[in-house]
Amino acid sequence: MEAWKGLCLILVLLVLGRGEGQLMENFYGSSCPTVEDIVKQAVTTKFNQTFTTIPATLRLFFHDCFVEGCDASVLIASPNGDAEKDAPDNLSLAGDGFDTVIKAKEAVEAQCPGVVSCADILAIAARDVVVLAGGPTYSVELGRRDGLISKASQVTGNLPEPSSNLDHLNSMFRIHNLSQIDMIALSGAHTIGFSHCSRFVNRLYNFSDSSPLDPSLDPDYAKQLMSACPKNFDPSIAVDNDPVTPQLFDNVYYKNLVAGKGLLTSDEVLFTDRASKSSVKLFAKHSRNFTQAFVTAMIKLGRVGVKVDKQGEIRKDCTAFNS
Ligand code: HEM
Ligand SMILES: *[C@@H]1O[C@H](CO)[C@@H](O)[C@H](O)[C@H]1NC(C)=O
Ligand SMILES: *[C@@H]1O[C@H](CO)[C@@H](O)[C@H](O)[C@H]1NC(C)=O
Ligand SMILES: *[C@@H]1O[C@H](CO)[C@@H](O)[C@H](O)[C@H]1NC(C)=O
Ligand SMILES: *[C@@H]1O[C@H](CO)[C@@H](O)[C@H](O)[C@H]1NC(C)=O
Ligand SMILES: *[C@@H]1O[C@H](CO)[C@@H](O)[C@H](O)[C@H]1NC(C)=O
Repeated sequence: MEAWKGLCLILVLLVLGRGEGQLMENFYGSSCPTVEDIVKQAVTTKFNQTFTTIPATLRLFFHDCFVEGCDASVLIASPNGDAEKDAPDNLSLAGDGFDTVIKAKEAVEAQCPGVVSCADILAIAARDVVVLAGGPTYSVELGRRDGLISKASQVTGNLPEPSSNLDHLNSMFRIHNLSQIDMIALSGAHTIGFSHCSRFVNRLYNFSDSSPLDPSLDPDYAKQLMSACPKNFDPSIAVDNDPVTPQLFDNVYYKNLVAGKGLLTSDEVLFTDRASKSSVKLFAKHSRNFTQAFVTAMIKLGRVGVKVDKQGEIRKDCTAFNS
């Protein structure tokens, strides 16, 4: 009798403990057991066509989660040009990230129609591209529902700026329950991909009295950047975020920061600010500490603003609300 009571109590606690909005690794275990294989296949096919698949998908996941939560709201297309992806601050999200999710969703729908959210497909794809670039793997928590809102106006002020200082970066991440160490580890995503000249050119030239040449830049690296981005730069030119191993997901990003070769102000500040310097040095020296912190932070990022039940839906088409 006592044993029964104990068992019942444990069951009740388990059910309550799962709680609303909580994700689980095996969410599609019975409804779509092969979903991760299907997504990986689609991501690999896309990667075989273009490397941009990797940075574009990873960044898309970050932007989705920071605006309205990880709910695929960033994927919504709008005829009036006022959805999230239309915001000036969509920061030139590369179309290949959108295409990766759309292709993966099509492949998933062919096997398990109407079951898997676009938000979960993006979360799986973000993990897969990190692995394809040589980064760490991890189990992705699943069970997100796709959001019902996507507004360009929501983007403004919700994404960190390349000119942000440490306090500003910390406060933007803290809102989403991400710590300074999470923020530093996630910034390691800049070990791949590109940034356009407009994002860092203020560090190269003395455009006004208030913005002198950034003294934290390594002089040779600064020269390299000046030749890629002259004062009258072509706005379509983009430069590798990691000048040393641009296509590898490794800890060289942090070694670059130590060497004054951080591309954005928001990158280099992680080393120049005393409050974060020791973490950058640790990640530069010990790759394992970086990959462990990155995995922890990606899992936490994936929990931001997750929708459950009526708060969301399983979209049929990732670019449009069901109706
Ligand atoms: C810490 C604050 C961050 C700031 C201020 C920031 C800012 C930027 C900027 C300005 C660009 C260049 C965009 C362009 O010119 O096209 C960029 C690129 C990129 N960011 Fe971040 N970012 C931050 C954090 C993150 C995080 C957390 C991730 C993912 C986990 C991420 C992933 C990327 C990737 C992969 C690219 C390259 C995109 C491409 O090549 O298409 N960033 N970021
Ligand atoms: C991608 O390319 C690799 C190497 O060329 C090949 O082995 C693999 O089968 C391709 N995968 C897909 C899904 O297209
Ligand atoms: C990003 O926004 C600009 C307008 O600000 C728009 O021209 C561009 O197509 C958008 N990019 C994507 C990928 O939606
Ligand atoms: C915030 O993060 C901490 C530590 O990772 C976790 O214990 C806590 O449950 C999180 N809170 C919310 C509201 O997600
Ligand atoms: C930037 O310009 C101002 C005046 O235009 C000048 O006084 C200052 O020395 C310049 N700084 C650098 C680093 O060139
Ligand atoms: C670095 O990682 C090792 C194990 O991988 C761990 O024992 C150590 O505590 C970590 N260092 C810091 C400062 O977190």
